Amino acid sequence: MESLIGLVNRLQNACTLLGDYGSAGDSVFSSVPTLWESLPSVVVVGGQSSGKSSVLESIVGRDFLPRGSGIVTRRPLVLQLHKTEPRVEDYAEFLHLPKQRFTDFYPFIYCITVVILNSLLSCSSAMVRKEIQDETDKMTGTNRRISPVPIHLTIYSPNVVNLTLIDLPGLTKVAIEGQPEAIVRDIESMVRSYILKPNCIILAITPANQDIATSDAIKLSKEVDPLGERTFGVLTKLDLMDKGTNAVDILEGRAYQLRHPWVGIVNRSQADINNKVDMVAARQREHEFFATSLDYSHLAGRMGSEYLAKLLSKHLEAEIKARIPAITSLINHSIDELEREMSHIGNPVAVDAAAQLYTILELCRAFERVFKEHLDGGRPGGDR
Ligand code: GDP
Ligand code: NA
Ligand code: MG
Repeated sequence: MESLIGLVNRLQNACTLLGDYGSAGDSVFSSVPTLWESLPSVVVVGGQSSGKSSVLESIVGRDFLPRGSGIVTRRPLVLQLHKTEPRVEDYAEFLHLPKQRFTDFYPFIYCITVVILNSLLSCSSAMVRKEIQDETDKMTGTNRRISPVPIHLTIYSPNVVNLTLIDLPGLTKVAIEGQPEAIVRDIESMVRSYILKPNCIILAITPANQDIATSDAIKLSKEVDPLGERTFGVLTKLDLMDKGTNAVDILEGRAYQLRHPWVGIVNRSQADINNKVDMVAARQREHEFFATSLDYSHLAGRMGSEYLAKLLSKHLEAEIKARIPAITSLINHSIDELEREMSHIGNPVAVDAAAQLYTILELCRAFERVFKEHLDGGRPGGDR
């Protein structure tokens, strides 16, 4: 049975492609945006350089995002992780480059490989990174502006969990040289427009070496989710806290309570990245950090990026299950509407758009079928 998250991913992509046609031509398929918005996804929110892109990379276990100080992420990145059969080779695909596979994306041999291979292999993830940069510049120019138009990237690998994550530009307090004054406000409204939606699961990133009372991520998520019901608090940079201090009060939920438990993370430092410390070694070190820490060893079982990835995947799956009735009725509505569209094909709808309509119609039908199977097969709400 195809995973619920995998199916939702395909549906989201189809909606996105169709959305392009919808706004360009006169065949506006009105229920598509509603359908998109009813599908849950995880959005990463935090101040600039709080570690958002690093957390995403740790979750994926691959090193492929533009990253560093300053405003690097300037367009939303919709990242879909798709778990494949064991031994299938990893590859990545952009929605705007259909059929072009970025293979050797970051194979696991990496960790046992020698120095010569090293540069060869990291070249492929470097190509993914370059494509993200080029696509960003295409929309924004190279002048540190931002654009709300998302880039869609899917990663297929046996080593990921099924998950959809959205990386957003970091919240900031002041415009820097070359940026329009409005950028501070623009970023905040862009982030808000994503996390306002009730289907959005918020990954609120706060660096541990900063006072939590000043956390942009917590401030904004509190505004849209006051009870903390769909917010996951993530504390990065635990390795950078002042000696003699620790974050146990936060991680145990006493300093700032959310419905879900806080997760502490240790990502690679800039020096690690410069020294080409790979992701496998980084995960191992993160694991050791928690296991051997006097402050955190009692929490070690629920800390770290691997734990976070599993927690989110499980939660996303549960969210989708809880929404099955609502999504199914929307889908039925969409099927009706699509069938009507299809019967009108010939005049205003372009051939490509017709193919897209057909794809989404097929997906809706498949979706309906799989949902039924999940409902019949699993105990309803069994893993919540
Ligand atoms: P973003 O702007 O929020 O996407 O942040 P990045 O992921 O680009 O990280 C900004 C900088 O902080 C990079 O140089 C990272 O190496 C560093 N960094 C992120 N997380 C950690 C962490 O947990 N520990 C340490 N030491 N450095 C980190
Ligand atoms: Na950054
Ligand atoms: Mg970033």
